[in-house]
Amino acid sequence: MAEILTLTALGDNYIYLIVGAGDAVVVDPGDAGPVLLALKGNGLRLVAALVTHHHGDHTAGLAQLKAATGCRIYGPDSRCISPLDHLVRDGDLIDLPVGFVRVIATPGHTRTSVCYFLPQTEGGPPSQPAANARCTRPCPADVRPTTGPALFTGDTLFTAGCGRLFECDAAAMHRSLAKIAALPDETLIYPGHDYAVEDYMFTLSIDPHNQAAQQALRHLRDAQAQGRPIVPTPLAMEKRTNLFLRTDDPPLAAALGIRTDDPATVLAAVRRRKDAFQPS
Ligand SMILES: [Fe+2]
Repeated sequence: MAEILTLTALGDNYIYLIVGAGDAVVVDPGDAGPVLLALKGNGLRLVAALVTHHHGDHTAGLAQLKAATGCRIYGPDSRCISPLDHLVRDGDLIDLPVGFVRVIATPGHTRTSVCYFLPQTEGGPPSQPAANARCTRPCPADVRPTTGPALFTGDTLFTAGCGRLFECDAAAMHRSLAKIAALPDETLIYPGHDYAVEDYMFTLSIDPHNQAAQQALRHLRDAQAQGRPIVPTPLAMEKRTNLFLRTDDPPLAAALGIRTDDPATVLAAVRRRKDAFQPS
């Protein structure tokens, strides 16, 4: 069964290693340094890199990793991602040593953004993943068993948030988030950044009585105080606490002071409020 190693880089970026039988696949290596350290510390061979979108904080480590390991690089944009070996498209199934990975096109943050879905059907998500439970050598990463499906979302979906609309409109992002929402509820969301505390505070600024968000924020602060990573979160949790996944919820439009039943209009309003949000 594949495992996920969570690395941190560049302040608030997450880089993930999908690990199985000594092979590793990296997701969004914005910095090669932590990846090479984790590979060496865990005796892993890097076979591939998956890139969700072209922004530099998700791609800057690609050239060094390619030179050091010869890994094959998969990504959705041949003009802006370099080096690139395989251009991926919506619905592609990538056959990797760690398992088949499905490409889901999710335009919104960028025009060509994708998410990567790793199906795992055995068991359910761990309620209390044990930090470093499967790490037998010193390593800078937190190691968590992947016992449910995993979705690597880049800057499309964050814990309690979503990416800024740099190259697409709110309707495109809504369609992309609807694709994610249709995945199994037990899918574990692995986002590209750690913005969770601020995003839960934003949720509570709009929906102050959301008990799931209140509990999640307390849990996250405890985890951070103990130095534990705060990812992943199950999709079912995101559906309760992420305003960008609740844009068809009439009380949300009312809380925003708008009268519409168009989810894209609600999403645009939530995005504007989030862009102006200042956590206190
Ligand atoms: Fe980005």
